[in-house]
Amino acid sequence: MKIKACIFDLDGVIVDTAKFHFLAWKRLADELNISFDEHDNEQLKGVSRTTSLEIILRKGSIQYSEEEKQEMAVKKNIWYLEYCSTIDESEILPGIKEFLDELKLKNILIGLGSASKNALLILDKLKLTSYFDAIVDGNKITEAKPNPQVFLRAAEELNVNPNEAIVFEDAEAGVEAAIRGGFYAIGIGDAKILGKANIVLRSTALINFNLIDAAEGK
Ligand code: BG6
Ligand code: MG
Repeated sequence: MKIKACIFDLDGVIVDTAKFHFLAWKRLADELNISFDEHDNEQLKGVSRTTSLEIILRKGSIQYSEEEKQEMAVKKNIWYLEYCSTIDESEILPGIKEFLDELKLKNILIGLGSASKNALLILDKLKLTSYFDAIVDGNKITEAKPNPQVFLRAAEELNVNPNEAIVFEDAEAGVEAAIRGGFYAIGIGDAKILGKANIVLRSTALINFNLIDAAEGK
């Protein structure tokens, strides 16, 4: 099958904002006296802001009202955006810019499939927005990963079938969403966590065009 598009997750694939999401959630968890570490954080990767908050609150024993939860989510996002305020092109993860340039050169479509409602703002800071033929973010979807909606919508906007597209993901929920949607999934990170992917790379620095041949079964 010919690969016509590559769809990228944002946080942890294009830019290391995953660390800022963690810091902001950690700050909130500390304030609420809920224990929360990097291991717990794996469950939050790729899932929406509200689901992330629910996962953290489940670790504590106190029930909060919808209004209180809304305030917590807003507070987390303010902190997150503070941490992100200094982001620029230097924060693009290794190999990503070069790979995007190569995809453009070879006429392979580029899509974004992110749960984040801040995706456009971050892409703008990285000066990458113009690379994308379709951008699907947390504002456009109703179902969070591992539901494949975000990637299916991106494929639809790019006018390709899922089996003609590769998804790059650093989250367990994201890899699962890609596989459920019928995409070829490339995991970025730990193979123990991302085992469901077709291929797992330890770092974005290892992304190269040979992966397209592998996905096409050459
Ligand atoms: C995903 C991140 O990309 O976006 C999650 O992996 C985050 O950690 C989610 O919770 C929602 O992001 P935001 O920016 O809308 O709070
Ligand atoms: Mg991610």
